[in-house]
Amino acid sequence: MQTVEEYYQSLYNLINATLCDYLSIDHTDYQKVADAMQYSVEIGGKRLRPILALEFCKLCGGNIADALPFACALEMIHTYSLVHDDLPCMDDDDYRRGKESCHKKFGEAYAVLAGDALLTYAFQIASDAGVDDHTIVKCTRALANYAGIYGMVGGQTLDLANEESSDVTVERLAETDKLKTGALIRCACELGCNAAKANNAQYEAAKEYAENLGIAFQIVDDILDVTGDEATLGKAVGSDETNGKATYVTLLGLDGAKAKAEELTNKALSALETFENNENIVYLTKQLLERNK
Ligand code: IPE
Ligand code: IPE
Ligand code: MG
Ligand code: MG
Ligand code: MG
Repeated sequence: MQTVEEYYQSLYNLINATLCDYLSIDHTDYQKVADAMQYSVEIGGKRLRPILALEFCKLCGGNIADALPFACALEMIHTYSLVHDDLPCMDDDDYRRGKESCHKKFGEAYAVLAGDALLTYAFQIASDAGVDDHTIVKCTRALANYAGIYGMVGGQTLDLANEESSDVTVERLAETDKLKTGALIRCACELGCNAAKANNAQYEAAKEYAENLGIAFQIVDDILDVTGDEATLGKAVGSDETNGKATYVTLLGLDGAKAKAEELTNKALSALETFENNENIVYLTKQLLERNK
């Protein structure tokens, strides 16, 4: 019998091995961009989004192999969002996933191109997935919807606008986080449902789970930006303060932010009651609240 840690380690290993296969691009003419893509994905990361995609596929009775290409495509989109988020014109962070940020290692122009290429490659992988066409269309549409202007990019736009504003409210922050971070988490759960051909009740529960987890996840990220340890986190602490960002911590204080993250995590946990055999994801969800990286 596998322990929950062994179970998640096996998903993590499967995702990493598949990402490595996709990213072994050998072409001297554009090797530098290929190297920057590979570097940014392979230096680390918790792989939360692809793990959620596989988990929801399993929870809805599907075969995780059917969700795997979409899960990896989503991790590439997430990684691109981090590469661009770290650029000097955005959050200006030099350290990511325990290593130099992509633009520090390869230069800004190559970091922009590596991000562009990861985003585009994700759609190539999704459209080539070895599943039925209907599932491919649904998953490709979900990736586009949640990554773009109606999703993560929209949220990053609100995040930039908030930096210029002196009266960011909790409601405005929730709207920002729902998009900048929540959208890709929602996408992960929906990809898993699509791959498993989930029923309506399963889609609804996945949505409820993801919407609450997404904001809780960003609140914990904001808390760790204040209380975290740089070496453990693998990224700079104090970045939000340097950039003058309003976060749950600046608006509600550390205790208030922790209480909010806990409240949202409990809502996410309630949504999981719809699913049988949910012990592993319940464990993961609780762990995300207590995480230190
Ligand atoms: C960081 O995401 C950016 C946010 C949306 C908060 P993760 O904390 O999932 O980063 P990695 O993938 O583990 O590096
Ligand atoms: C980033 O939020 C969300 C993205 C869409 C990339 P943050 O700017 O707080 O993420 P970190 O702290 O740099 O990982
Ligand atoms: Mg940012
Ligand atoms: Mg950032
Ligand atoms: Mg942050």
